[in-house]
Amino acid sequence: EKPGLELAVVSVPSYACQRHTPLLHHNTTLTDALSILAENAELGENEGRGVAFRRAAALLKSLPQEVRGAEQLRGLPCLGEHSLRVIKEVLEDGVSHEVETTTHSEQFKAMKALTGIFGVGAKTADRWFREGIHTPSDLQRSGHTLNRAQRAGLQYYDELNLPVTKPEAVAIGQIVERAVHAVLPGAEITLIGGFRRGKQTGHDVDFLITHPDEGREEGLMRKVVSWLEAQGFLLYQKTTGNSYLESKEGPARPASNMDRFERCFSIFRLRTDNEGREIQTGTEIQTGDGSQTYSPTLTNTDPHTHSDTHPHTKTDSHPLPQTLVVVGDHAQKVSWVLGHSQCSGPRSWRAVRVDLVVSPYSQFAFALLGWTGSKLFERELRRWAVHEKAMTLSSHALYDRKRTQYLRASSEEEIFAHLGLEYIPPCDRNA
Ligand code: CTP
Ligand code: MN
Ligand code: MN
Ligand code: MN
Repeated sequence: EKPGLELAVVSVPSYACQRHTPLLHHNTTLTDALSILAENAELGENEGRGVAFRRAAALLKSLPQEVRGAEQLRGLPCLGEHSLRVIKEVLEDGVSHEVETTTHSEQFKAMKALTGIFGVGAKTADRWFREGIHTPSDLQRSGHTLNRAQRAGLQYYDELNLPVTKPEAVAIGQIVERAVHAVLPGAEITLIGGFRRGKQTGHDVDFLITHPDEGREEGLMRKVVSWLEAQGFLLYQKTTGNSYLESKEGPARPASNMDRFERCFSIFRLRTDNEGREIQTGTEIQTGDGSQTYSPTLTNTDPHTHSDTHPHTKTDSHPLPQTLVVVGDHAQKVSWVLGHSQCSGPRSWRAVRVDLVVSPYSQFAFALLGWTGSKLFERELRRWAVHEKAMTLSSHALYDRKRTQYLRASSEEEIFAHLGLEYIPPCDRNA
């Protein structure tokens, strides 16, 4: 008998929200392959196909051991024909032909690069791709009219594609806390998104804000944003008001995935390095674009070389204090990130994407659950609610369609209980 056959007899539930999915698991080679295909499907706006690959990957992430042979997969849910084919190929050959073809395809690479620009979705990227625009530089040269978000996205492209570290997230959290408490003492701030799930890096930092006295949080975001802007912490922000209304007949069906909280999508100007230390600015000079630089002796004007993994230490004459400039290789001991494009050298800050959400206290548990992710875990929760419980779950509320009433909850544990699910802690929601 081959070892590991016991995997097949372990019964694995089919919804990701019924399983514990830790950040670190035993099948990354397989899940990396499936994730590429999911991403490719999503970039091609084939959502259904994307979800199928994501569900297959999530199943593998929840297994207690490494899969070594296809026979171990017998009886497991979530593995469609296509995913199984890819898994078998990787198990036998080490790679999947389809995955290789995808990662090397000009279209995939261009779509990833273009949707990597903040404010650019798959539709826009595809239109540009078909016009021959394959890179952010192509876009810059094209003279296309861009909206405010896209202009900021292009301007801070390199930095926004550099992972945000945990210490950076903590530093941002301190700034957000100062801002919120300056305009509404007693308000509570919670780190949500990937960092709440235990991730050590993220593409952004997400915060949920509330106040124990319901109603006090109304209009809070505008005030927080004004404070942050006055202090020079914001490079970009787009704030929207709360438009949520609870109706007697329950939520529309299907409930919108997009919630209606007061929110702010922003880009912060962070003045600490990725270990959370305040940047020592040395001699500051003003450059043409208004950004500050350390030293006029540094020149680094080509944004393309920033994806290199080599340290940019053109500092022969004036080595900078704690400044090793590296972009693109986060594994190295990076102390700081440099400015680029129009900027003539390293500067004393970096751009970081930050999402802020304000929820009324009575909806806090739902907002917390809805904004902790992962995206697939959220999707599976809603699917479970609808198909297994005849309930509608959103980041605002849970509605029971049989009893025609809203089910209140003041903690995530209560929501899982209403849904008839075992409680899954944030660190095990990495589906
Ligand atoms: N979310 C949402 N509505 C949006 C954007 C995000 O409800 N318009 C939710 C997502 O469902 C997710 C959470 O906010 O649960 C965080 O989303 P995001 O920051 O995109 O992903 P993370 O899981 O935090 O991953 P990363 O580390 O890459 O930021
Ligand atoms: Mn996030
Ligand atoms: Mn460079
Ligand atoms: Mn986010």
